[in-house]
Amino acid sequence: MPENYELSAKLLAWYDVSAREFPWRIGPAEKRGGAISDPYAVWLSEIMLQQTTTAAVEKYFAKFLSRWPRISDLAAAADAEVMAAWAGLGYYARARSLLKCARMIASEFDGEFPGDKESLMTLPGIGPYTASAIAAIAFDRPETVVDGNVERVMSRMHAVTGPIAKAKRELRRCAERLTPRQRPGDYAQAVMDLGATICKPRSPKCESCPWRLNCKAFSSGLQNRIPEKTTKARRPVRRGVVYVGIRQDGALLLERRPETGLLGGMLGWPGCEWNDGEQARPPCAGAWKDSGRTVQHAFTHFELQLRVVTGKMPENSIPQQGAFVPAGEFNPADLPSVMRKVYEAAAPELNLP
Ligand code: ADE
Repeated sequence: MPENYELSAKLLAWYDVSAREFPWRIGPAEKRGGAISDPYAVWLSEIMLQQTTTAAVEKYFAKFLSRWPRISDLAAAADAEVMAAWAGLGYYARARSLLKCARMIASEFDGEFPGDKESLMTLPGIGPYTASAIAAIAFDRPETVVDGNVERVMSRMHAVTGPIAKAKRELRRCAERLTPRQRPGDYAQAVMDLGATICKPRSPKCESCPWRLNCKAFSSGLQNRIPEKTTKARRPVRRGVVYVGIRQDGALLLERRPETGLLGGMLGWPGCEWNDGEQARPPCAGAWKDSGRTVQHAFTHFELQLRVVTGKMPENSIPQQGAFVPAGEFNPADLPSVMRKVYEAAAPELNLP
C-alpha cells in the first residue's frame, strides 16, 4: 500500500469522528445522509476565510447567505449594500472582488461555478489557494490545499527545519504527495482541522494525533521546535487626522473612499492622508474642535493613530470633501472597524447615539 493511502485513510477516519462543524461545511455525517456541497456557499466561505478566523467569519457567512441565498441574488445586489454587510470583516478588496465574481458567474457562466482549478483561477478574487479549496471542497477534485495550518503539519510530519518561508515549495510537494484521489474535499478540510485543533502552533496535542506514529517531529521529540519561530518586524506607525462633522439637522459628513487602496469602496470620515497629519484641513467650513481622543487601529503592515476632530456645521453648508448623509440613512455598523472606532470616540462630544 503506498504511504499516502495509509496516511490519508488514517486522517479521514479521524475526520469522520472529529470534524469541526461550520455553517458552510457539509460534514462527513451529512454527506453519508446524501447532502452535497453548494459551490456558492463554499466560495463565499473561502473568500471570507482568507486572512480571517473561522470565529469571525461565522456570523458574516450566515448574514450573507440569508440575505443573498443564491449567487444570482448577490450578483443583483447594490455595491453599497454588500460593502456595508462586509463592514468589520476587513480586507475590503475581497468584498469588491466578491461582487465582481458573482456578476461574472451570473453573466458568463450561467450562474454555475466551474469545477476545475484553472477556470476558477480566472475569476476575480480567486487565486491558486482559493481555487484549490473550492475545487476540492465543492467538487471533490484532487487538488491540494496548502494554508498556514497545512504547512505547519507538513513541516512537523517531515521534520523540515528552518523557517517555513524558506521551505514553502518542499512543504507543498509533501502535501501534494499525501493528497488522496478518494474524498479529496474531506481530506483538505481534515488537514486544516488537524492543524487548527491538534497540530497547533504551540503545545501540539500529539497524544491525540492520528498521524503521530508517522510524524518525524514527534518521533524525535521536536514538535515544539518545528516549525522554527520567526520574529515579526514591528509595525511602523502612521498618523492622521479625521473629522466627524454633524450638520444642524443631524446629517453626518461622510465620504465613500476611492475603489482602490486601503478600505477601498468603504464609507468613512473625511480626513487627511495617513502620515500627513500636518496637512490636515477640515472638509467643510464649521466650528471644529480637537476631541482630545486618538483612535488606534492595527492594519497588517502598519499601526494607525488617528486624531479625532469633531465639528458642527450650519444647515446650508457645502462640503469640500465628502457628502452629508441624513441621520436616518446612517448606520454605524456600515463602517469598517477603524471608522467605527472613530465614530465611538466622537459620539459623546456630538451627542450621537
Ligand atoms: N480556512 C480556510 N478554509 C477553511 C475551511 N474550509 N474550513 C476551515 N477553515 C478554513
